[in-house]
Amino acid sequence: MRTPIIAGNWKMNNTIKEALTLIEGIKANELNENVEAVVCVPFTAIKEVNALLKGTNIKLGAQNMHWEDNGAFTGEISPLMLKELEVDYCIIGHSERRQYFCETDTTVNKKIKTALIYGIKPIVCVGETLEQREDGKAEEIVRNQVINGFEGISAEDIKEIVIAYEPIWAIGTGKTASSDDANAMCSFIRDTIGELYGDEKDIVRIQYGGSVKPNNVNELMNKSDIDGALVGGASLKADDFVKLVNF
Ligand code: PGA
Repeated sequence: MRTPIIAGNWKMNNTIKEALTLIEGIKANELNENVEAVVCVPFTAIKEVNALLKGTNIKLGAQNMHWEDNGAFTGEISPLMLKELEVDYCIIGHSERRQYFCETDTTVNKKIKTALIYGIKPIVCVGETLEQREDGKAEEIVRNQVINGFEGISAEDIKEIVIAYEPIWAIGTGKTASSDDANAMCSFIRDTIGELYGDEKDIVRIQYGGSVKPNNVNELMNKSDIDGALVGGASLKADDFVKLVNF
């Protein structure tokens, strides 16, 4: 049995004050204890959000990190720094990072490896563009992202990793992949993990992401190979996030 995991990706939203208001709003509700809830907040709010999450089951996440511990990397944040802030998860290789900040499977691979050294669980994003899907290349693209991203990662470590399948054309657009298409790709990703790691494929959790909302989460979560959701827009409203966790 894989524990469902609903993670909010706040992206570049919320000042510290707004972040605390949102967390208070979430905490005012009862959350399903059988679902792992994660909030991936901006770096600036991590410390205060962590303090407010104490005593709850909600996990804390960051949205990016560098792969080195320290050094001449102006503007970057290291896994050592995130560990000090008691971060549980870190999103790695989100399509917006790949698109706007030149991240590649190689940098994703380095980041995953360092995150694991620090005990930070990576939420590794993969997904194809609309053009790639229309060209019939979606599986090939995603398969390469998985194979290259996980190169050199051991079977022991793969269990700590969450994979988020996010078709780029469904992010922030209101277009969700149909639950069947989403499940088909999650199942394909699981088979690829099976080729690389054998039985560990049944342990690795795979999320779907891209316009997940309270009104479609249930259908997605009922699918055999979808173990959770990575949620942008709807995670910015306390009521919606609570509904997602209590799907
Ligand atoms: P969205 O974002 O839910 O707003 O589509 C998802 C994501 O980018 O993780």
